Amino acid sequence: MGDTIKLLIADSTYEPDGSFNHILKSEGGIEIVGKVETGDRVVEMSKIIKPDVVLLDAEIEGLDAMEAVRHLLNNDPNVLVVMVFTEKNKTYVKRAMASGARDFLVKPFTVNSLIDTVKSLYELDKSRREALRAETGGKNEEKEAYDFRLPTESKIITLFSTKGGVGKSLIAINLAVSIADKTKKKVALVDLDLMSGDIALMLDLYPKRTIVDMVKDMNGIDKDTLQEYLVHHSSGLSVLPAPISPEQAEYVTSNSLEKIIYILARSYDYIVIDTGPSFKEVNLTALDMSNHILFVTTLDLPSVKSSRVGLDIMKKLNYEDNKVNLILNRYSKKHGISIKDLEKTAKKSILNVIPMDDAIAISSINTGAPFMLNNSRKPIAKKISEISDFIIQGK
Ligand SMILES: Nc1ncnc2c1ncn2[C@@H]1O[C@H](COP(=O)(O)OP(=O)(O)OP(=O)(O)O)[C@@H](O)[C@H]1O
Ligand SMILES: [Mg+2]
Repeated sequence: MGDTIKLLIADSTYEPDGSFNHILKSEGGIEIVGKVETGDRVVEMSKIIKPDVVLLDAEIEGLDAMEAVRHLLNNDPNVLVVMVFTEKNKTYVKRAMASGARDFLVKPFTVNSLIDTVKSLYELDKSRREALRAETGGKNEEKEAYDFRLPTESKIITLFSTKGGVGKSLIAINLAVSIADKTKKKVALVDLDLMSGDIALMLDLYPKRTIVDMVKDMNGIDKDTLQEYLVHHSSGLSVLPAPISPEQAEYVTSNSLEKIIYILARSYDYIVIDTGPSFKEVNLTALDMSNHILFVTTLDLPSVKSSRVGLDIMKKLNYEDNKVNLILNRYSKKHGISIKDLEKTAKKSILNVIPMDDAIAISSINTGAPFMLNNSRKPIAKKISEISDFIIQGK
C-alpha cells in the first residue's frame, strides 16, 4: 500500500459528492482534506492542513490563481499544485507552469484521470525526493524542490506543419546541430513524430530506448538515468527517439510529454522538438510549452492552403504573434507561387526562406551526417544558420 495523499480542492463551482470521495480514497489512496472556494482561502487553509496536492481551478474567485500558486509555494515549496482549466482557458497552461504549477487537468475530467494525475505526480515527486535524499544525505531538499520546475532559461523550439513532407525533420536536425555548435551548450532533439518519426535513422543512430521507455519508467528517472534514454550523436546532440512502431504512440500522452520536457529542461539549454503534421493533443502541448514555433511550409498549393488554416488555428490558440515564425522551405524560383502570394495567403511575413537543394538534403539524410557539419557554406546551411542565430539571440 502506498501513502495516503492529502488533497485540498480549491474551486468556486465544483462540489464533489460522497461517491467521488469514496472512489478517490479506495482506488487512489487520495483523501480530500479540505474544500475551499476562493484563492485567498486556499492559501490560508494550506498553511493549516498542509496538503500534499492542491487541485486549483484556474478561474477561482478572489485572489488570481497564478498568484495563489506563488503564495502556496512560498508557504511550502514541496506542495504539488495541479491546475484545472476549461478548454477555453487552456492557453494559460504555460503561464501556470511558469508560476510553479506542476500538472493540469482540463474540465470535465473523470475521477480516474484525477487519480492518475495526482498519483503519478505524487509518486514522481516522491522518487525524486528519495533520490535526492540519498544523494545529499537529507540536505538541500527544499532548494531542489524548487529547481524541478521548468527553468525559464531552457529554450524550447518546436518545428511544426499542417502538411507532411515539408522538411520539418531535416530542419530540426540541422538547426539543433547548428545551435549546439554555435553555443557549445547542451541541446536535446525530441522526435515527437510518434507515428512515423525517423530522426534516429536520419542521424544514422540505432537507439536501444525510445520516448516510450521514458514514459514507462518516468517515476524513476533523474538527471543521471535520463542519459540512458537518450542516444548521443557525434555532433554533441542528445536525441530522444520516436517509438519504434506506430501502435506505441498512444503511450505518449500530453501529461507524460510535459513531464519529459520538464526533466529534459533540467539538463538541457535548448530542446528542439520535431512533430508530425497535426494538431493532436501532444503536439499542442509541445506548442504550448515552446518559446519558438517554427511553422514550416513549401510553395505548393496544398501546403500554402494548409499553412493558412494552421496559422489561423494558432491565432485562435492565442499564441503570441512573435512566438510563431513562418519558414518557407524547398524554395525555387521555378514554382508558380511567389513568396508574396504565400505571405498574403498566410497573413504572415516569412522569417526565413530555405532553398531547394536535393543533392545536399538527400545525401545528408542517407549518410546520417547533417549538412551543417560538412556543407556549412552551402546556401541551404547558411539559411539554417540564420534561423539558429534568431533562436540564440532571442526575439
Ligand atoms: N530544402 C530542401 N531541399 C531539398 N529537399 C528537401 C529540403 N528540405 C527537405 N527536403 C526533402 O524533403 C523530404 C521530406 O523532408 P522531411 O522528412 O524533413 O519532412 P517532414 O516535414 O519532416 O515530413 P513528415 O511530415 O513526413 O515528417 C526529404 O526527402 C528531404 O530530403
Ligand atoms: Mg518528419
